[in-house]
Amino acid sequence: MSSLSTQHVLALHDLNVSDINLILDTARSFKEINERPIKKLPTLRGRTIVNFFLEPSTRTRVSFEIAAKRLSADGINFSSSGSATSKGESLIDTAKTLDAMNCDLVIIRHKYAGSPYILTQNMRAPVINGGDGKHQHPTQALLDLYTMREHFGSIEGLKVGIVGDIAHSRVCGSLIEGLSMLGAQVTLIAPPTLLPVAPEVLGYPGGTPVTCTSDLESVLPELDVAYMLRIQLERIEKAPFPSLREYARLFGINTKRMAMMKPDAIIMHPGPVNRGVELSSEAVDTAKNLLLYQVNAGVAVRMALMYLLLGGDADGTVS
Ligand code: CP
Repeated sequence: MSSLSTQHVLALHDLNVSDINLILDTARSFKEINERPIKKLPTLRGRTIVNFFLEPSTRTRVSFEIAAKRLSADGINFSSSGSATSKGESLIDTAKTLDAMNCDLVIIRHKYAGSPYILTQNMRAPVINGGDGKHQHPTQALLDLYTMREHFGSIEGLKVGIVGDIAHSRVCGSLIEGLSMLGAQVTLIAPPTLLPVAPEVLGYPGGTPVTCTSDLESVLPELDVAYMLRIQLERIEKAPFPSLREYARLFGINTKRMAMMKPDAIIMHPGPVNRGVELSSEAVDTAKNLLLYQVNAGVAVRMALMYLLLGGDADGTVS
């Protein structure tokens, strides 16, 4: 029985504000444990967690794998190569196969939006979306919310600019919802060809509204967070801007633009970074950039989610 209001986490909006706060509070306990020399807890001993990644991943796959190991679960990793998926087995049949083996939790990454939902319809275990097409990446948003909350103390009222490939970004799909739900003021900053046609439908019903601009320098000095997105070259079908060089000139953060930011403002990025495109090398390596803090927090946030979905205490106490 989950202590969250949902059995599955397929999208950020599957969670309510209490769920998000519970996950972030629980993650804080796990983050402290992750700093100890001995990082392993017996909490999920005997549970079987499957990492089913059908698209490339470093951060998400490895951090889910580490999270399962630190909670003493039996983690199984499989991808399309080396599995029956490469022989043409359907997602439905794969889900039924995993179900027949009594898996306790499945994390899936897939190039098609909606694939995690298909799993939920064909197996009993909770499913976590590790990124589906251009749709959602809820655990990335949770670790980003964790990072902002730890850094600023609260998310309400923060001015967050999300810069870049809004149109093709699943990170953005989840993060905008979470920030809007928790009361941040979100501005989407991108070439018009990478901006949504109707930004008012983004965000969260009843949450703070989302605005858009294509003029980075006009809003940069006001931002608390410049959240930089990678251009998703693998998902772009037609050229939405003349060249990566021009994109970097108009929308990249470099030394000059870092000087325009508030002294306590931060840069964030979900990774992987295209150095020299959305961030210059100086902007990747500056102390203002919390990229590696985000990666570190990602392990704790994913431990918290596994723990809570598999029946951890509802008060955020780790045992
Ligand atoms: N941020 C993110 O999803 O990175 P990976 O593709 O390496 O998992």
